Amino acid sequence: MSLAIQIRQNGGPEEMQLVDIQVGDPGPGEVRISHRAIGLNFIDVYQRTGLYPSAMPLTLGMEASGVVEAVGEGVAHLRVGDRVAYASNPPGSYSTERVMPARCVCRLPDAISFETGAAMMLKGMTAQYLLKKTLPVEGLHRGDAVLFHAAAGGVGLIACQWARALGLELIATAGSDAKCQLALANGAAHAINYRTEDFAARVKEITGGKGVKVVYDSVGKDTWEKSLDCLRPFGLMASFGNASGPVPPFAPASLGARGGLYVTRQTLFVHMATREATQAMADDLFAVVESGQVKIHIDQRYPLREVQQAHRDLEARKTTGCTILTLD
Ligand SMILES: NC(=O)c1ccc[n+]([C@@H]2O[C@H](COP(=O)([O-])OP(=O)(O)OC[C@H]3O[C@@H](n4cnc5c(N)ncnc54)[C@H](OP(=O)(O)O)[C@@H]3O)[C@@H](O)[C@H]2O)c1
Repeated sequence: MSLAIQIRQNGGPEEMQLVDIQVGDPGPGEVRISHRAIGLNFIDVYQRTGLYPSAMPLTLGMEASGVVEAVGEGVAHLRVGDRVAYASNPPGSYSTERVMPARCVCRLPDAISFETGAAMMLKGMTAQYLLKKTLPVEGLHRGDAVLFHAAAGGVGLIACQWARALGLELIATAGSDAKCQLALANGAAHAINYRTEDFAARVKEITGGKGVKVVYDSVGKDTWEKSLDCLRPFGLMASFGNASGPVPPFAPASLGARGGLYVTRQTLFVHMATREATQAMADDLFAVVESGQVKIHIDQRYPLREVQQAHRDLEARKTTGCTILTLD
């Protein structure tokens, strides 16, 4: 038996209830994992509200760490007793124990704790593919300016540090002065409070009127339009989330008028299409964390049974860095 957080229908945080679920043996290509810590992500909110539809009932959660308890037929890269962490479909990590596909489960280096592993896999691999694979036509080079929205959040604080390690001039936005300070302390070259300042005007000022090569936008509805004004000719608008609501429809002709802009909507799970690709991204993340260039800030911890409060705080923009759910 496993304790798990399930919803029976889409709705507010109150829909999440603690239930007992049966956990069987892993089938071919699967493993059974006993969790040690669980990562909280904004995608969990989209799945709870129904912005991203799922079959019901649904055990939420896309990220966790733990110990392999049983290995199904054909799984060659994991053994019973391995310390592991993952970001993976299908949802189900809000639980004490689960059976899941082994493909996206990675062995956790000894130097990385279970809590750090649970906090960083989804957010860290996202920062990895954004900064290293989601590139403008001319590529990204040391000294290039990029704009990163919600930079004091989970993905954001990792991206700030990783961008500094890559020599990029990351311009951060965040929703309070304290969050701006946090982004600066973590490697952002500039920070703009987009609740009180016109971020497009400030970006123009900071870049001497040129604009940035890439905008990384996970806020969506509220930042979309002005973000396009921050790009230099042939710049890349990389949309990867909708914390404020989905991006509204837009006219492709407006991209021409603004300077031949490119637009992409990126998703981590497309980058994780094979086990090899997932492992390569995870190895890159492990290396940058083990080197100390990227520190994983776990700024909030909630017991699994208090997950409703965790979701309320995430949606109310009260959190910074990463949040984990603990199993006591
Ligand atoms: N496509 C992908 O592959 C992928 C993968 C991982 C994450 N994501 C996306 O990346 C974003 C960051 O994820 P995360 O888990 O690390 O979350 P997070 O950044 O820790 O939290 C979301 C942040 O978005 C900002 N925000 C702006 N407007 C908001 C609004 N109306 N309501 C709530 N928040 C708002 C808030 O920061 P401020 O107060 O500073 O504005 C908030 O703290 C999310 O949009 C997520 O969906 C996408």
